Amino acid sequence: MTRYHYPEPKSSEITPEHVWTKRRQLLASGALMAAGGALPLASAMAQRSKSSDWAPLVAKPNPQYVVMDALTSQKDVTTYNNFYEFGLDKADPAKYAGAMKIEPWSVEIEGEVAKPGTYGLEELLSLSPMQDRVYRMRCVEGWSMVIPWIGYPLSALLNKVEPTGNAKYVEFVTDMQPDVMRGLSSSVIDWPYREGLRMDEAMHPLTLLTFGVYGTVLPNQNGAPVRLVVPWKYGFKSAKSLVKIRVTEKQPLTSWVAAAASEYGFYANVNPEVRHPRWTQATERRIGEGGFFTPKRPTLMFNGYADQVASLYAGMDLRKNY
Ligand code: MTE
Repeated sequence: MTRYHYPEPKSSEITPEHVWTKRRQLLASGALMAAGGALPLASAMAQRSKSSDWAPLVAKPNPQYVVMDALTSQKDVTTYNNFYEFGLDKADPAKYAGAMKIEPWSVEIEGEVAKPGTYGLEELLSLSPMQDRVYRMRCVEGWSMVIPWIGYPLSALLNKVEPTGNAKYVEFVTDMQPDVMRGLSSSVIDWPYREGLRMDEAMHPLTLLTFGVYGTVLPNQNGAPVRLVVPWKYGFKSAKSLVKIRVTEKQPLTSWVAAAASEYGFYANVNPEVRHPRWTQATERRIGEGGFFTPKRPTLMFNGYADQVASLYAGMDLRKNY
């Protein structure tokens, strides 16, 4: 079921499906063998069978953004989710987000830009070539995944709308569909879900405007049809199902800062040295890896992306600016 006319990549840019699958299988089997599991290849193939639920989205792998860690299975990526609009349980988004209406879809861009406007999804899709990038993702709750996202740098869109000299921050706003989003009746946060980045963070090449995952369009539970992915920050910065992008002069008040500023900072850079008030951030559990006795992994500064992003924070006290 193709819901949109996704852009046709040049044939030279397409990784043939069997090569893509093979790459994934090799990675997945490596992981399973490392974890001591049996039948690695069969398991990897079983994980892929689910992909028929979503339309394919082909993209060229970007070799600059590959990590050595094994991929988290497509099943875990699409069934263990945080999308509070659909409920607080990790299984809720996969259960309920299917009812979200994602067609037609547009994203409004406003604020400190010379060319504000409303972008239909098809226009967004064809704005810049899609890339397949494997990112480590770390949730503030202490678990992590390794996910093959598909998208292009958010900077491609921001450059198009021409930020003004006052543009210092970017705010991201998620859609609200009260008839199908049962979570909106809860008051965990003040809806709509709002997130934000400093301008240099938003323009950083790692910051991905994301349309797909695991070779398909985004499943609704992962934030269809378009979301943000910011891999050096805790997962809550990566707002889903975006309807508005507002470029601002002042730091926007994000939903999590408004809900509990002492627990969730505006920067939310992954930092093993700064505890969440209620738990350590020094280690993490990789979803799908091993069992109860498997040791946790050490969490890396900036989630392992320090080489690329540490310079953005030179001179800042990261204990204060958590
Ligand atoms: N975006 C919206 N709109 N609502 C949410 O509840 N949860 C965030 C983020 N984006 C969330 C959201 C959190 S806490 C995480 S860890 C990631 O989405 C999870 O993304 P995934 O389910 O695709 O792995």
